[in-house]
Amino acid sequence: MNTQVNLAGIKMKNPVTVASGTFGYGREYNEFFDLSKLGGIITKGTSLKPRSGNKAPRICETASGMLNSIGLQNPGVEYFAEYDLPWLRKFDTAIIVNACGSSIDEYVELCKILNTLDIDGVELNLSCPNVKAGCMAFGNTYEGVKQVTSEVRKVLDKPLIVKLTPNVTDIASIAKAVEDAGADGVSLINTLLGMKIDIDKKKPILANNTGGLSGPAIKPVAVRMVYQVAQAVNIPILGMGGIINGDDAVEFMLAGATAVSIGAGNFVDPYTSVKTVLGIEDYMKKYNIDDVNDIIGKVQMN
Ligand SMILES: Cc1cc2nc3c(=O)[nH]c(=O)nc-3n(C[C@H](O)[C@H](O)[C@H](O)COP(=O)(O)O)c2cc1C
Repeated sequence: MNTQVNLAGIKMKNPVTVASGTFGYGREYNEFFDLSKLGGIITKGTSLKPRSGNKAPRICETASGMLNSIGLQNPGVEYFAEYDLPWLRKFDTAIIVNACGSSIDEYVELCKILNTLDIDGVELNLSCPNVKAGCMAFGNTYEGVKQVTSEVRKVLDKPLIVKLTPNVTDIASIAKAVEDAGADGVSLINTLLGMKIDIDKKKPILANNTGGLSGPAIKPVAVRMVYQVAQAVNIPILGMGGIINGDDAVEFMLAGATAVSIGAGNFVDPYTSVKTVLGIEDYMKKYNIDDVNDIIGKVQMN
């Protein structure tokens, strides 16, 4: 049975990765299982300089999901290169760095550094709803996405995957902008902008007022968007949004994803990602599928 996939030039032993911001740099989860079991690890959003993130409270639970407004807290790329990357490299899994910035110059400077590191690829985060400058400012217009992607492309030789926000009218056209600007792949979806109000205090629960919704609540939206993007572009898709088991992962692959990421599901059960690897294999056995690539994009529309 072949479970290997090639995501935008990144060879992975299976299609399962962990979503940025839900797995740190892997150290905590390594106490539960061997990280080499994963197809890939997508790091916490990493910026040129350290960031302290937003004020607490920064997360809260919602029906079948959660809201977060972390605000891209991270120790910066230099610390990552010195401390986390050598440790992560001990594992037999693809290492993809989620890169974030507040201006095009910052994205470019960061990617110049990432280009020199021993990593397998970059996931460019143009989609975080929780920071005022950057990300969403570029991520929700065709021109903004195209400009930042093409500037980064000039300095990055490694596989470049651009992560899209679902908080747009037409995700397919934004994905097309990414493809036209020279990206090798596209990942989706980031969180949906939401809000929860404490009715006794009459105030939003998150200090930031709004946050990004993730978890099973967003899965149907994500599957629909992956399908639409798969119809619009020829570059591979990394799909995510509410995946908590192998059946969910298969759904994304049928819709057109080459690989998947597990996000909020890691918080419910730290073994969710490895169980998803096994769940995909169970599906392949059930339907006598020899090669996982045969599932990709095979949904038959009514
Ligand atoms: C606590 C938290 C932090 C996140 N941080 C990032 C981040 O740093 N960069 C990024 O691109 N996405 C970030 N995300 C979005 C996830 O990577 C993922 O796209 C989203 O949560 C949808 O997947 P899920 O429903 O499986 O969680 C974060 C999500 C959560 C819940």
